[in-house]
Amino acid sequence: MIRVAAIGDVHMAADARGTLRNAFAAVGDVADVLLLAGDLTRLGTEDELQVLLDELDGVDIPRVAVLGNHDYESDRVDALVKLLDAAGVRVLEGNTTVVRVGQESLGIAGTKGFGGGFAGACGSDFGEPEMKAFVGYTKTLAEELHDSLASLRTDARVVLMHYAPIKDTLGGERPEIYPFLGSYLLGEAIDAAGADLIVHGHAHNGVEKGVTPGGIPVRNVALPVLKRAYAVYCLLGA
Ligand SMILES: [Fe+2]
Ligand SMILES: [Fe+2]
Repeated sequence: MIRVAAIGDVHMAADARGTLRNAFAAVGDVADVLLLAGDLTRLGTEDELQVLLDELDGVDIPRVAVLGNHDYESDRVDALVKLLDAAGVRVLEGNTTVVRVGQESLGIAGTKGFGGGFAGACGSDFGEPEMKAFVGYTKTLAEELHDSLASLRTDARVVLMHYAPIKDTLGGERPEIYPFLGSYLLGEAIDAAGADLIVHGHAHNGVEKGVTPGGIPVRNVALPVLKRAYAVYCLLGA
């Protein structure tokens, strides 16, 4: 069995120092890997990220992250990734990592993802260059996610993302903003490549549980949704 702990949207900043430290220190007792589903910070600064890294200091299992839109706000993405790397947190964007758990292997494919909307109510890459850039970016990320996920030859496969791949987990979010919360293109890409579990964040007013059209479980692990430091999901014979 592989136990996956996941949390998103911790939105760390100085005034949140100490709020997650105790729970994180115990995560190794209940999980084999900790996934961070983006929006690690509020404004994407190194100072805010350092608060999170201090909170993560006692975690003794592999830590894997994707960034969220908030982490892009200060245009310091490269510096943030460098800090995460130096702290031993693997950052994914269009690529994968493999974690060994006893005799089993867990493949993780990660992307921030992006918006665009869901089938029947979505943007299309037509008309103005700005629309083509918007939807084209999501298409590119979906293709990269498909290819990286399909390349994994592990016992179990998890997708770690920030934006939502389906609308089921958007819950109480206003339908008017669905196109800014995720894209069905991401869900389609995952269904085509196959996975055992998808975790995402970003939709603070969403609900935890959903499923893709292809039957893959989706979990919205945004902190305001979970209302706890992380959720733990069991894969392989759970
Ligand atoms: Fe967020
Ligand atoms: Fe977000």
